[in-house]
Order: sequence, then C-alpha cells, then structure tokens
Amino acid sequence: MVTMEIVQQIKQLQKEKNASILAHYYARPEVQDIADYIGDSLELSRKAGETKADIIVFCGVHFMAETAAVISPTKKVLIPVEGAGCSLAESITSEQLTQWKEVNPQGIIVCYVNTSADVKACSDICCTSANALQIVESLPADKKILFVPDNNLGAWVQMKTGREIELWPGNCCVHERITAEMVIARSEEYPDADILIHPECKCSSDLQVANMPNVFIYSTSGILKHATESPKKQFVIGTEIEALYQIGKKNPSKEIIPIAKTMICGQMKKIHLEDVLEALEKEQYEVTIPAAIRAKAWSPIRKMLEMI
Ligand code: 13P
Ligand code: SF4
Repeated sequence: MVTMEIVQQIKQLQKEKNASILAHYYARPEVQDIADYIGDSLELSRKAGETKADIIVFCGVHFMAETAAVISPTKKVLIPVEGAGCSLAESITSEQLTQWKEVNPQGIIVCYVNTSADVKACSDICCTSANALQIVESLPADKKILFVPDNNLGAWVQMKTGREIELWPGNCCVHERITAEMVIARSEEYPDADILIHPECKCSSDLQVANMPNVFIYSTSGILKHATESPKKQFVIGTEIEALYQIGKKNPSKEIIPIAKTMICGQMKKIHLEDVLEALEKEQYEVTIPAAIRAKAWSPIRKMLEMI
C-alpha cells in the first residue's frame, strides 16, 4: 500500500472509532504528521487526560502509553508495537523503591515520568523534564529527597534548586552521550548559535556548560519554544534527532543543527505508519493497568498535574 492510502485509511478508521493519535516529538516524522497531538511527555500526559476520544493510540514508548492509561482509565489505550522500551524506565523497580522507603520513611520519592506504572505506584510525586524544577522547589525543605531514575536530570535539578538530592544511577542511553566536550566544540563551530540542551543530557549539570551564555536547558517543548520565539537565526539542538523535525517545520527560515546526527532513540522509531493502521484495525496492543496499581500510580501523577 502506498503511504497516501495508509494515511487515508488511518484517518477513516480514526473517525469511525473516535480515536485520537498522540505522538511524541521523537516519533518518526511521518507518524508525527498523522497525529492529532504532538508533544513532550508533559503535554501528552495532559492531552491524554483531556481528550474526548474513546481510543488513544499512543505513538511513543511503553511507559508513555501506560501513563496515558493511568490518567485516562475509561479510554482504550493502544500502543501500535509491543516492546518499545526505555533505558530509564528499565533502570528501576518498585521493589527497590519499597526498600528505600523502609530505610527512609519520611523521605520523598520524586519520580520522573519515564518509569513504569509499578514504580510510579511506589512514588510520592511525579515530574517531567518540563516541570522537575518547580516540583522539587515545592517540596518541604527539611525532607530528604530521592530522585529516580535519571541521574543527569536529577543532578541538573540539584544544581538549579540548591536542594540536596539522592540520585538514582539511571540514564537515557541517547542523552547520556551528549557531553560537555560536544557542546563546547559545537559552540566554537557555531559562535552565533544558541545551543539548546535537554536536561537528560550528561552535560546538563556541567559547570562549564552552565556558565556558557549561549547554552539553554529545556524539555523538548521548551527547546521548540525557544527556537521559535528567539530572534536568532541559528540553533544547535542537543536532544533526540527527531525533535528537529517540528523545530524545522515551525521555523523554515532558521538553521537548525543537530548536536550530533547519531542521537537516535531506536525505541521511539519502532512505530511505522503501517503499525498505526493495524493498531486501529485490530485495536491492538491494548495497555491495561491492574486497578490497584492504577489507583496508586495515579496519585503522584495527579499531584504533578495539579501543581504545574
Ligand atoms: P520530554 O518529553 O519530557 O522532553 O523527555 C524526553 C524524553 O526522553 C522522553 O522519553
Ligand atoms: Fe527513554 Fe531516552 Fe528513548 Fe526517551 S530518548 S524513550 S528517555 S531511551
């Protein structure tokens, strides 16, 4: 089938079944093009809660579809391919958090949204890269904080808020490869460019990088906003390569340069247009969360959504 036919069939089925397609900025461009909403983790969580659709087709990785299922328990949430994982979500288990809580009963567990529903169910409050600073700043000053599972995001939050935070040794296998040396080299190569870096990057809490006046650290939607609103004409983007697709579309007159073309999340690329069509046809693969876990996982997500 040619792409146009696939797209037409997707649109048709979407209408018939009252389905909404949500895609992360790191999804394949052709998948982003057929989505009703494109966003970062926070924006997509909000959309999952607001949509009036009966079916949500989530084009991202598994933890994102799980989060949508927790937020919207009355909807059927589908992920078009099974087994799209995330190195961060896989770096921590609920048993490990239960053990930490036993040793630190008064401690607060701040859980990055890139985690399983089981892990969220053992956490006190969730955050995404778009609101991690505000969430941590809102916590009582006398409480011990454990930030899981992204060590780089946690270290950046620690640097920006001045709060002492216990960090979990997890990382994103893509952003972990974006180093201070790369940022410095790109800055020398493009002295007129703003360099926009995701806080999951290894370099996000590097002091030399933090002191560079042309470097800004944001979630994916923040990077897009900065590139769109800034009068500058050149931007180096330090995040997953596909984020450049929407930045380029919204800013055709600006030069958008990847920090490295190799920053690709293979898990985010598993979903092709054909998979979206098949997902709608067969209503597969449904993501369900046991009621007891869902109720517990909803609490830290709800606290986050109410706060920011
Ligand atoms: P955001 O969507 O919060 O920018 O996070 C990036 C990411 O790596 C998602 O998996
Ligand atoms: Fe996980 Fe990193 Fe891929 Fe995001 S980019 S899904 S954090 S591995």
